[in-house]
Order: sequence, then C-alpha cells, then structure tokens
Amino acid sequence: MTDTLLRGRTLSFLRWPDSVDDQGAYAYEEDGGVLIRDGKIVATGAYADMAVRAGADAKTIDHRPHLILPGFVDTHVHYPQLQVIASYGAELLGWLNTYTFPEESKFRDAQYGRRVARLFLDEMVRHGTTTVAAYCSVHKQSAEAFFEESHSRDMLNIAGKVMMDRNAPESVLDTPQSSYDDTRALIGDWHGKGRQHYAITPRFAITSSPEQMEMAKTLATEFPHLHIQTHLSENHDEIAFTQELYPQAKDYTDIYEHYGLMGPKTLLGHCIHLSEREADALSDTGAVAVFCPTSNLFLGSGLFDYQRYRTRAKPLRIATATDVGGGTNYSMLRTMDEGYKVIALNGEKLNPFASFWQMTLGNAQALSLEDRIGTLDAGTDADIVVLDSRATPIMNLRMDTIATLAEELFLLQTVGDDRAVREVYVAGKPAKSPILTDAA
Ligand code: GUN
Ligand code: ZN
Repeated sequence: MTDTLLRGRTLSFLRWPDSVDDQGAYAYEEDGGVLIRDGKIVATGAYADMAVRAGADAKTIDHRPHLILPGFVDTHVHYPQLQVIASYGAELLGWLNTYTFPEESKFRDAQYGRRVARLFLDEMVRHGTTTVAAYCSVHKQSAEAFFEESHSRDMLNIAGKVMMDRNAPESVLDTPQSSYDDTRALIGDWHGKGRQHYAITPRFAITSSPEQMEMAKTLATEFPHLHIQTHLSENHDEIAFTQELYPQAKDYTDIYEHYGLMGPKTLLGHCIHLSEREADALSDTGAVAVFCPTSNLFLGSGLFDYQRYRTRAKPLRIATATDVGGGTNYSMLRTMDEGYKVIALNGEKLNPFASFWQMTLGNAQALSLEDRIGTLDAGTDADIVVLDSRATPIMNLRMDTIATLAEELFLLQTVGDDRAVREVYVAGKPAKSPILTDAA
C-alpha cells in the first residue's frame, strides 16, 4: 500500500509533564513528519528524515503550519444521549428520569440506533476524537448499531450495552439473565473484531439489583481482560439512595468491590465525593477515576479534585471525558478548559502540556491502550488530529502575541473547539466528517 507522509508541527507526549518547562515530557518537531503505512505509524520525526524513509510513490499531505497530534481520547460518553445534550434544570436523578431514560427508550428501534450511531461518530471525529469509551442503551441492538458503525469506520472504540434491571421505566430495563445473555452474545460478536473492544457496563448500582450485579461479577470473571465501565459517587442524592439499596456495603465503592468489578480495566465515571477509604480502594486496584468536568458542572454534581487524587500518598489513575449528554460539549479541548477551571477552584493550575498529555497519552494509558493509541510512536495506530491555532478571528489575533508552544496550547484549550480541528486521520485515512447530516 502507498505510504502517506503528513508534514507539520508534530507533538506527542512521553510522560506526565510536570511544568511548562518540562521539555523531557514531550517530542516536538517544528518541521515534522509522520510516515504512515497500512493504517499504522512507521515513524515520526524530522520531515527531512521521514521523506528519505518514505516509499517513492508516497503521498505527502502538507499540514504546515498546523499541529499534528495523536487523536483525542474520550473515556466516558453516552452515545444514545446525542439528543439529551442541553436538557434544562435538573440534577442527576431527576435528569435521568425526565430526559435520559425516555430518550434511551427509543433505541429499542434498531434503525433509530443506527442513525444516531452514525451521527454520533461523525460528531466525535469532527471534534478530533478518534477513540471513545461509550455507553450504549440497555437494548442489545443499540450496541450492535454502535459497533457496526465503528467497525465500518475502522475506529478503535470501546462500548457496551448498559445492564439495568430496576429503578427506571420498563422500556429501558433488562433482567439479570437477559443482561448476561446479551452481553455474552455481544462480546462474542464484537470484542476483538477489527478494532472493537467490549466493555462490561452495569450502568450504576442504583439501576442494578444484587442479582444483576452477580451477573456482572460472573462476566468479569469469565472475561477478565475486558474493560468494565460504570458510574461512582457523582451526586449526594445518588450516594444516599445507593446506600439505602445496599445497606450492607461500607460505602458506594464497596459495592463494586464486593461484586469483583474493581481492577485496572475498570473505568469509574465521576468519583467526585470519594472518602479516603474509597480513594485508597481505587488506588489499590488500579481502577480509573474519570473526570467529566462539563457534566459535573452542568448537573451541579461537584468539583473533582484532580490534583489531590493525582498526588495523594496512594495516587489514583485519572482519565478525562465529555460524558455527553450530561456533558455539554463533544470537544476534548472544551472539556479540558472546563477541567482547568475546576482545578483552579481547587486551588491548583494544570499546565497546558499536562492538559494535552491527558487528552492523548494520559487517557490512552487510563484505558491501558497506550501501545495502540494516544502517541505518534512507530508501530502504533495512525489515529491523528491536526489542529489550527488560528482557526477563529480571536484565535488568529491572539496568536500574533504568542511566543511559546505552551502559550499556543493554552490558547487552543481555552478558546478552541471543533473549528480548530483541520483534519482527523483514523487508521491512517482522512476522516473528518461533514456537519451533522442525514445524507448517506
Ligand atoms: N449515572 C447513571 N447513568 C448516568 C448517565 O447517563 N449520566 C451521568 N452523568 N450519570 C449517570
Ligand atoms: Zn456517564
């Protein structure tokens, strides 16, 4: 197959950047190249060196003066909530009952699910996100629709049908047995097919009976290498109701521990109000706390203490995510901007290199997928985003006053959005999609 050589300012991360001066944390080439073959990165480095290595018939795409980074990774998002974004006036439990469950009930219709899956992945790609960990609805066909669409685009995505058998309308409930059977069938059909990953997905303790949690435990035991995704400690009313439903549990986290759901592939959305014991339990098991700033602010859930979790004696693995429809924007740039403000309210500042590390390599590491995505390293998948720091009038003006890469990244994060995404490559192929459309 013909080589593709992307030319531009390449930036990728090697480890957590301690400060804006921590140059050892990243690799940056002013005139860089990414050499791609068969959907994989062959090498990244100085353009002149890459040009020598490229095949004679290589196609060069000149993205100068734009930045070329690994595609963004969104570690928690609900694809059936495409039409829930911007639902007014409720906190978590009211929001679920008023807006979310009624919308998710529509995914019983496979055709509806296929349409939304297509529009959703268009939207993710348009925002520069090349991998998501997605919740589907309770309906098996919603997960099938997601995986069909994801597979046809050759995207590396993680998804699972939510298991939920109580405390919601009948139209979005399964049973312990059907949730087990459907999850097993979906794992068999989709996990490891192309770039697809299945996540065992009990929605949260409130909507799963102890019998269903037993089923989730069985699945986790039968498929120990799969991701598990759920919600934890998002909202005070949620926590109180959970304690009522599981009176024997020490705390919310103990429920997931009891059912064998805590491990290094476990993604726990929100984790805002953890006790020290709970935070220790996450640290001990390697489970990931997923920071969803736009959602946490929009639903009034609380302020995730990123820097404390990161630096406590037993540190947590942390990821960031949009959590749309509770979240308010599909952009990881907008997400990290809101994250920066939340961290500021907790008395700290997140440096721009750390932000961009988090959206790329940091989130890939949190998904245990850093050998495939989140980097521009040789041998990894060619999932790439190209960013234009002068995409809007205000960005263009402000760029005239900017002298350093750190300042440029901070501008991109603070005022950038989908308009800054010039191109996206998924498995080496250009993939930026047209604005939401029903056209084929
Ligand atoms: N907890 C259980 N389900 C959900 C959901 O769909 N969104 C959010 N933000 N929290 C949840
Ligand atoms: Zn969520």
